[in-house]
Amino acid sequence: MDFYLNVTVAGLETTRQICSDYGYWFRRGDETSLTLFFTDRALVSEVRRVVDDLKGPGSAPVHLIADPVPFHELHRFYRKKGLLNEWIPYRPGDLFRIHRLLEPNAGNQSYETQPVSIQFDVRYDQTVPEKRRVYRREQIAAILDAIDHLHPTSLIDWGCGCGANYSFLKDKLAQEGIRYQGLDTSRFLISKAKDLYETPESDPRVRFDLGDARRLPYPDHAFDLGFSESLLPLVPNPLAALTEMARTTLFGFFSSLYTIASHQPGLVYLQKERAYALDVGATWKYRKGVSEQVFYLPKTADVRAFARKVPHIVTVENKRHQFFDALGIRTVSVFFYPKRWFDQRRARFTLWNYQPLM
Ligand SMILES: C[S@@+](CC[C@H](N)C(=O)[O-])C[C@H]1O[C@@H](n2cnc3c(N)ncnc32)[C@H](O)[C@@H]1O
Repeated sequence: MDFYLNVTVAGLETTRQICSDYGYWFRRGDETSLTLFFTDRALVSEVRRVVDDLKGPGSAPVHLIADPVPFHELHRFYRKKGLLNEWIPYRPGDLFRIHRLLEPNAGNQSYETQPVSIQFDVRYDQTVPEKRRVYRREQIAAILDAIDHLHPTSLIDWGCGCGANYSFLKDKLAQEGIRYQGLDTSRFLISKAKDLYETPESDPRVRFDLGDARRLPYPDHAFDLGFSESLLPLVPNPLAALTEMARTTLFGFFSSLYTIASHQPGLVYLQKERAYALDVGATWKYRKGVSEQVFYLPKTADVRAFARKVPHIVTVENKRHQFFDALGIRTVSVFFYPKRWFDQRRARFTLWNYQPLM
């Protein structure tokens, strides 16, 4: 998607906003560009500085056409599909929303694009019959219980998608005055979450950020409580994400992942990712070559060693009903719980164990 903006009409402030939003949402390799053009000589040097600030190794291209475009040549730009309307006060994320609408199939098939990510649509709970639902309110029962028990003031949801779990939690969070932070690498899903839940009318304590669970842009203990649902098996180097989860939470977190207890034929161990790679094609579909989606399964021993070092969490292991049983791959799932909560609930634990967030 190639965007064009007439800087002379838009003015410096709008140009800055457009540039910063473009820099936030787009990356090199996206097949996008932003071209800034002028119809007189003012502002060129200021805008050049804005553009220089945006440049980095991974940034998407921005072109600046410094020579003013004469009136009789303006049609070259004004007929472009990606011409930005100088009079529209674009909101943060609007460029990506436009891109998503006009080029829904750009990029490879992943959470970035609709065909796969639509299955995580929050309307699932309204459109799919009860017995066929993947997402159920009961999945977050443990989190609701932990809220009552630990009284957190903030909660982070790593790999939040477009907010499926937030939709189940939102009434409780509002009632208790708890700050919610969602984070996901998928621009498609984050922009959708923002459209649904981060509107001018919505609770300002609810935020959705683009970000990677392996490098969280938050200080130590920034959140009281955290959880992830169906995230860690999709993250290259899940141990790095776990380390970040431990660092950024005070009371600990709910999470889970599949691990490999001993080497099995057909599995490749990736040193850098500290995990076995299980390449099954598209997520949830055992079809090869459909996407670049790979499951990452660390060694059980490495996860145990990690857990021993984190005082505020407890782990529970389970070998039954494993997701990859049908493929003949033996896994052990490890569940993480906030220690203070788990210690109180230990006696009732089987209740939670088989309705995990996974
Ligand atoms: C199976 S979906 C689960 C979505 C979400 N928990 C929900 O309930 O709708 C996995 C999510 O993890 C996100 N994801 C994958 N790798 C990530 C990473 N390194 N950091 C943050 N999110 C990531 C994907 O974009 C996707 O939204």
